[in-house]
Amino acid sequence: MKLSQKAQLCTLSPMRKFTPYAMAAEAAGKKIYKLNIGQPDIETPPEFFDAVRGFSQKVLAYANSQGTEVMLDAVVNYYKRIGVEYTKEDILITTGGSEALQILFLCILDEGCEVIVPEPFYSNYNTFIRAAGGVIRPLSTCPEEDYNYANREKLEALINEKTRAIAIINPQNPTGNVLTEQELRLIADVAKAHDLYLVCDEVYREFVYDSDEVQCAGKFRDVDDNVVIIDSVSKRFSACGARIGMMISRNKALMAEALKFCQGRLCTTTLEQVGAAALYSVGPEYFAKVRDEYRRRRDLCYEKLTAIPGVVCAKPMGAFYVMAKLPIDDADKFMKWMLTDFEDHGETVMCSPAAGFYATPGKGLNEIRIAYVLKEKDLARALDLLAMGIERYNNR
Ligand SMILES: Cc1ncc(COP(=O)(O)O)c(C=O)c1O
Repeated sequence: MKLSQKAQLCTLSPMRKFTPYAMAAEAAGKKIYKLNIGQPDIETPPEFFDAVRGFSQKVLAYANSQGTEVMLDAVVNYYKRIGVEYTKEDILITTGGSEALQILFLCILDEGCEVIVPEPFYSNYNTFIRAAGGVIRPLSTCPEEDYNYANREKLEALINEKTRAIAIINPQNPTGNVLTEQELRLIADVAKAHDLYLVCDEVYREFVYDSDEVQCAGKFRDVDDNVVIIDSVSKRFSACGARIGMMISRNKALMAEALKFCQGRLCTTTLEQVGAAALYSVGPEYFAKVRDEYRRRRDLCYEKLTAIPGVVCAKPMGAFYVMAKLPIDDADKFMKWMLTDFEDHGETVMCSPAAGFYATPGKGLNEIRIAYVLKEKDLARALDLLAMGIERYNNR
């Protein structure tokens, strides 16, 4: 029996592919500091669990395919608070931002169509775009230029008759790049001029550390048909396991197509929508506190990484990741070795090898992505282990 080309062109997630080695190391008694995945240790606000406990219906029924009324209202009100007018008709509640991306790319891509994506990018874009028959056209960025990609000439040089969309992640995973309003505007202008979708993945919207600006491309009303927002409660409220996200656009034709896929999969989870809607009642003090915590972790991470001889990285401005070029031959080999051969007092650290965050072959081979999702004390120990590991690996 045959397997599809689409499946074979996809790869395992760089965040998760070493899990079997990690499980073996843990079974053997090793403690692993996990900086490989964006799973924060920040507590989910109790509003989620209280709402779920308060669920009193006798049948756990399918929800509406578009999302529950309560959830849609919560999202509309949240956007209103950040100064962006959306109506319920502009929103589809999905199983995480992940399903929103899958549905979106199914709606806008035909076989061989291209999506311009600044690289390095969140590696699952490869899977989502490939599965929809599309191809990533990477716009390469580098730490020496703070991973900047808001450049009209560079963007336009990648556009051809097969291009359907520009997909940006803002704040960016994995580089931490954050667009200014002018930069976002510039990219919206390019999308408009070339009649392209502008996919704005804003799941880290609140996590910006060097300004108070919370950006949303939905505020540019002249590009209503181009802009599609991908959003999620996963990171915003540290509720990754709820699996609640959303696709948002004022493009009515696009939303009508997306609804077909939403109806095809019936609905997203009913009970989690009850909890997720309640999360939107947390106030600005919640975000301020979480932002401060991540800012401290970002600073610590950057300071410790740049103190390791031979490491190159740019200070992230947002999200909770940092890319680092290491003085090693191969990050895949190194990360596996860290789990199988390395330990200090029974402890090691796990990060993501970064080649999977690139579409250009050969890029990112000696880079890793670190998710600064642990408390400062644990993060400091994890980065000390990384420094020790690099030295021992190179002297082995
Ligand atoms: C940029 C980006 N988009 C989307 C997602 C998907 O998140 P979820 O499906 O949990 O909403 C992630 C998860 O890490 C991400 O980093």
